Amino acid sequence: MSVPARVPVVIIGGGPAGLLLARLLQLAGVESVVLERQTRAHVMSRVRAGVLEWGTVEVLRSASVGDRMDREGFVHDGVSLSFADRLLHVDFAGLTGRSIMVYGQTEVTKDLYAALDEAGVVVVDRAADVLPHDVAGDAPFVTFVDADGAAHRIDCAYVAGCDGFHGVSRTVIPSAVARTYERVYPFGWLGILSETPPVNDELIYAHSARGFALCSMRHALLSRYYVQCPLDDALDAWPDDRFWSELRARLPTEAAARLVTGPSIEKSLTPLRSFVAEPLRFGRLFLAGDAGHVVPPTGAKGLNLAVSDIHYLAAALIDALSGGSTTGLDEYSDRALARVWKAVRFSWWLTRLMHRFPDQEPFDLKIQEAELSYLAGSPAAQQSFAENYVGLGF
Ligand code: APR
Ligand code: PHB
Repeated sequence: MSVPARVPVVIIGGGPAGLLLARLLQLAGVESVVLERQTRAHVMSRVRAGVLEWGTVEVLRSASVGDRMDREGFVHDGVSLSFADRLLHVDFAGLTGRSIMVYGQTEVTKDLYAALDEAGVVVVDRAADVLPHDVAGDAPFVTFVDADGAAHRIDCAYVAGCDGFHGVSRTVIPSAVARTYERVYPFGWLGILSETPPVNDELIYAHSARGFALCSMRHALLSRYYVQCPLDDALDAWPDDRFWSELRARLPTEAAARLVTGPSIEKSLTPLRSFVAEPLRFGRLFLAGDAGHVVPPTGAKGLNLAVSDIHYLAAALIDALSGGSTTGLDEYSDRALARVWKAVRFSWWLTRLMHRFPDQEPFDLKIQEAELSYLAGSPAAQQSFAENYVGLGF
């Protein structure tokens, strides 16, 4: 694959944020190169959340990568919260007129790769030592070493830092400019995939005396389940039998009775964190997706925030590069962060509502129970939950 010496936009990171940006730019006739550290097989095998807000569905359709999603994804009109041995269904469609789409992030990534390949966009995998330079000036460039050990330099007008929480882009912003906000939660989620029918037609977020659990799915014969667990637990401590009995114990009796178990085909532990870096711009470098902010998976906002960032950023870059105005770029950080913070608040709130905290006092538990009971009895509270879950407007 030949790497151009100059393109308008270099995109660091080939996760959903970077790939979607490359796609939207390509559709507008703007050339870019994506530099991804991992192999493509690695990127496509990462299991992540599988819930798309309707705004995300519409952006993917507008990027002409929505056909398989529309064929194979599942539209859900609500989710259930369980607590005190009951199941509370929240009717998103009735409360907000909007729904969500269950379609794995891995599948979104595959669809984006396929579209970029077909359009001939250069996506370099196994790119090592990627480093943006001179982003504070007018002539930035990015250097990296390819899989054969050859060093490259790409000159550009703008750099998009889409390289996730552990990426390099955020680190080039001087600490005098950057401000970060963080909350680390004192537990993790142990997740499994199993080729069993999902326990419920829609997702169940479960509050229980033994801790949080989540029942999700990919399709009619592929379930995704999670249980809250201590952060330092080893995967070996969670053989399948233990996982299933723990999950069953955290579900209301009626759902537990329907649970179909089987061997896990994937098992992983995810730490939970809220993190925001401000601003999302430094000179000609723009951060998007997990590079700029991270949310706990409660509420499945991670991918959706990456998509809303890219929705703003792509339009702003296209405007600036087609001889239009740079106002969109100037406003990008504030616009994106305004939406990001609301999702950070929602996922923090849902995390706090549904989990057992190690230092939780009886008072805290009573507050959780009161809030869940309030949700169950108040259409206004359910509407607020629903509008945040289906996604706030762009
Ligand atoms: N150089 C090049 N690529 C890098 C570097 C680097 N130094 N560091 C990280 N990357 C790559 C990672 O390998 C990964 O493929 O950047 C990509 C970032 O992708 P994601 O982590 O998927 O982040 P993003 O595209 O913002 O998507 C956000 O995906 O990570 C989930 O939970 C997250 O759902 C959210 C969504
Ligand atoms: C998932 O399907 O993996 C999933 C769904 C909802 C969440 C988190 C993860 O809130």
